[in-house]
Amino acid sequence: MLDPSKTAFGDNATDITLPQGDHCLIRQLRSEDEALLRDMFEHCNANDVYLRCFAAMKSFPENMAARLAHMNPEEEIALVALPATGDPAIILGVAHVILESETALTAEFDVMVRSDQKGHGIGYALMTALLNEARLRGFSAVTGYILQENRAMLQMTDELGFKVRHMVGGVAEVWIDFTEDRDAA
Ligand SMILES: CC(C)(COP(=O)(O)OP(=O)(O)OC[C@H]1O[C@@H](n2cnc3c(N)ncnc32)[C@H](O)[C@@H]1OP(=O)(O)O)[C@@H](O)C(=O)NCCC(=O)NCCS
Repeated sequence: MLDPSKTAFGDNATDITLPQGDHCLIRQLRSEDEALLRDMFEHCNANDVYLRCFAAMKSFPENMAARLAHMNPEEEIALVALPATGDPAIILGVAHVILESETALTAEFDVMVRSDQKGHGIGYALMTALLNEARLRGFSAVTGYILQENRAMLQMTDELGFKVRHMVGGVAEVWIDFTEDRDAA
């Protein structure tokens, strides 16, 4: 079980400067974000849904928005990125981890950025914040599954310090171990 009170965010949003000088806000997902999340997923194209789910999913926006908005805060963390200026009622991207092994305290991540907002550093900023939050809440490691053709995500996880553990059937399992940092400290 995670302690949801151990968070860098609380109820607040953090202002992040993106590589080209734009800003976004990152905060914890709230259950009342469900409609905004659905709208975000409706702005994700079929190829991005395929890269996220490894399959075409007709009801992806409704199902995923409901799933994330009703997550279990003792086993999951979800962060959303929002515009720092302009329309605040837009979610630009969401990153999420879920407890995978209660004994090993490992978690599995997923991340998605609105298709028309990709390439501005939002995915990288969300993943950086998510890994910090996962470390703070006490996870020992985070893993993820990425299609081999998903070069952008494989490059990003490499830059974030993940290692490729397995490559099976066109899917890479990437892995980052926080205990290595703790042991080295
Ligand atoms: C994969 C995905 C999340 C990436 O999101 P994104 O916002 O487009 O990615 P970013 O703009 O943050 O990263 C793009 C690039 O900037 C780099 N980058 C961004 N911010 C950076 C920073 N602050 N420092 C260093 N590098 C940075 C990334 O490594 C990457 O490199 P590139 O410019 O050579 O391509 C997005 O494409 C997506 O939603 N895809 C569909 C779903 C999916 O594939 N999910 C992953 C499986 S769960």
